[in-house]
Amino acid sequence: MKRIGLLTSGGDCQALNATMRGIVKGLASNIQDLEVYGFENGYKGLIYGDYRLLTSRDFSGILTRGGTILGTSRVPFKTIREPDERGIDKVEAMKQNYYKLRLDCLVILGGNGTQKTANLLREEGLNIIHMPKTIDNDIWGTDMTFGFYSAVNIATEAIDCIHTTASSHNRVFIVEVMGHKVGWLTLYAGMASGADIILIPEIPYDIKKVIEAINARAKRGSGFTILAVAEGAISKEDAALSKKELKKKMEEDKKLYPSVSYAIAAEIEKETGMEIRVTVPGHMQRGGSPCPYDRMLATRLGSAAAKLIMADDYGYMVGIVNGKTKKIPLGECAGKLKMVTPDAQEIKEAKRIGISFGD
Ligand code: F6P
Repeated sequence: MKRIGLLTSGGDCQALNATMRGIVKGLASNIQDLEVYGFENGYKGLIYGDYRLLTSRDFSGILTRGGTILGTSRVPFKTIREPDERGIDKVEAMKQNYYKLRLDCLVILGGNGTQKTANLLREEGLNIIHMPKTIDNDIWGTDMTFGFYSAVNIATEAIDCIHTTASSHNRVFIVEVMGHKVGWLTLYAGMASGADIILIPEIPYDIKKVIEAINARAKRGSGFTILAVAEGAISKEDAALSKKELKKKMEEDKKLYPSVSYAIAAEIEKETGMEIRVTVPGHMQRGGSPCPYDRMLATRLGSAAAKLIMADDYGYMVGIVNGKTKKIPLGECAGKLKMVTPDAQEIKEAKRIGISFGD
């Protein structure tokens, strides 16, 4: 007999359902009595006791379905120890609901912030398994997060479409790619779509170098240029500011431009007089059906999580390292961000074929 709880927390992504399906199928195929409780809308469901008993049928036909059958929400880690507006102690409430249902374990699907709360619950004595979801691929300890490659596909297709129109009009186009504070998604989608310039937070850009790269292309006879810009891209000057100064600068920039790409476009336009267009695919990147790679990854991670649960082996994130599923102690990975390193092979390879990072 096993009683497990499931919840999905933070921004959604593709393959959340596929992962839950993998876990439940892995357990249901091997355990006689299984009870699965799904908490609704992330940690909120666990705090306020909003849950439903799920059956195998709930997990059938969801391998290809985007979003999450449980719903999700953001409950920031930094406020988790603060009582809610009704004075409820969130951590205590989560523990009480866990014990009330006599759960053997709680499986939490989420990104970095979610993982920190998952680790806190582990420290509070709950049996926890964390599954690394995010289109940002920024979770330390796993080579890949589910959702990432599906988002790479969408961002790549967006840039592919821009390519044809950019070449017809001889324009400079900026496509802004999600990824929060890291550049994985922009790097992969940028390289996969043949972007000419890729700007990511890990390599602060010099606008002069960006313009040089655009001009160099024009000189070679290429009338158009495509820039893949991460939503967290930052200039060299801004990167040199103190935390406080940067916060102020960002607040000022926000009043002038909806996002970083528009600020970059304005600078290029001012310096060169060129016609620039900005495209922001936004949340499309998190939507739709998971790509085959993510379905496979989600199924493997889900199955590996089921194996841990059957062995009562808790307190881990289930990730993938060098092609093999692996349990990584939550205490080791929680709170760490996996960023692109400026001397990564991908960056060197991109630079070798002439892609500019504006540095
Ligand atoms: O973490 C996933 C992500 O899509 C980031 O890439 C992006 O910065 C953020 O979530 C957007 O958050 P929200 O859905 O709250 O606007």
